[in-house]
Amino acid sequence: MKIRKAVFPVAGLGTRVLPATKAMPKEMLTIVDKPLIQYVVDEAKEAGIEHFVFVTGRNKGVIEDHFDRMYELDATLAARGKKAEQEILARDQPEAGAMSFTRQQAPLGLGHAVWCARDIVGNEPFAVVLPDELVLHTPGCLAQMIAAAEKLPEKSNVLAVQEVPAHQTHQYGICGVGPREGKMFEVDGMVEKPPQGTAPSNFSITGRYILQPEIFGILERQERGAGGEIQLTDAMIGLAGTQRFYGVEFEGERHDCGSKAGFLRANIAFGLARADLRDGLRADMREYLES
Ligand code: G1P
Repeated sequence: MKIRKAVFPVAGLGTRVLPATKAMPKEMLTIVDKPLIQYVVDEAKEAGIEHFVFVTGRNKGVIEDHFDRMYELDATLAARGKKAEQEILARDQPEAGAMSFTRQQAPLGLGHAVWCARDIVGNEPFAVVLPDELVLHTPGCLAQMIAAAEKLPEKSNVLAVQEVPAHQTHQYGICGVGPREGKMFEVDGMVEKPPQGTAPSNFSITGRYILQPEIFGILERQERGAGGEIQLTDAMIGLAGTQRFYGVEFEGERHDCGSKAGFLRANIAFGLARADLRDGLRADMREYLES
């Protein structure tokens, strides 16, 4: 199963991190020195994704600018002999023609955002990556999922899953656990944000999916679910009537960067993982905490 395209739903309002996101997209919040969106595009690139589909919205134009070439900046860096900085900019930019941008015109939910990408994705399996969840690991979460998907029959769908404490299951999509083989299991039922005490397991659906294009036919019906939104999980429940879903327990630390505490924690974790920053940051933090 070759996965060529990844969809990044980036139209969300980012209300959990206001006021930072009043005039700036939450996907542009920086972890250490890169915006969130760059991390997930890099993760997709590493996993072999060739085309990056962004479902944007109002106030999100700067995401498009981030992936464009900045001639004035390039020229200034060149004139000043700043080769390393120029290389960073070149490294982070997808190839010409490898990106598409479409708009979700109203905040109708994650399922609706994915549906907005249907014409660009076409009739092939694709990945969905939510930029506010970062996974700290090499190989990345999506690469692990694609490796697992390669062993599965055609028309399989794959979800990145991770166990969460019972008191958090109501914040996520949760899947039931069927027959298991190593780090992968067949999904036996899914539910979006189950009320406390009703979750079928502790396995939460994290923000990485490999889906078959038949999901679009179900999303087309625009049925509302939890919170009055068109939920991706509900469409997946529909698709599970005719296709298999597998949960992959991935390796790596998961960081929810869409919450203030999670965002701060991610900055520290990703900073400590950087060879050029680790020692200085650790010493600074120790000194600060002891003061
Ligand atoms: C979305 C999905 C949910 C999933 C979560 C992961 O929820 O609907 O199933 O568990 O992402 O981050 P949201 O966080 O957008 O409410």
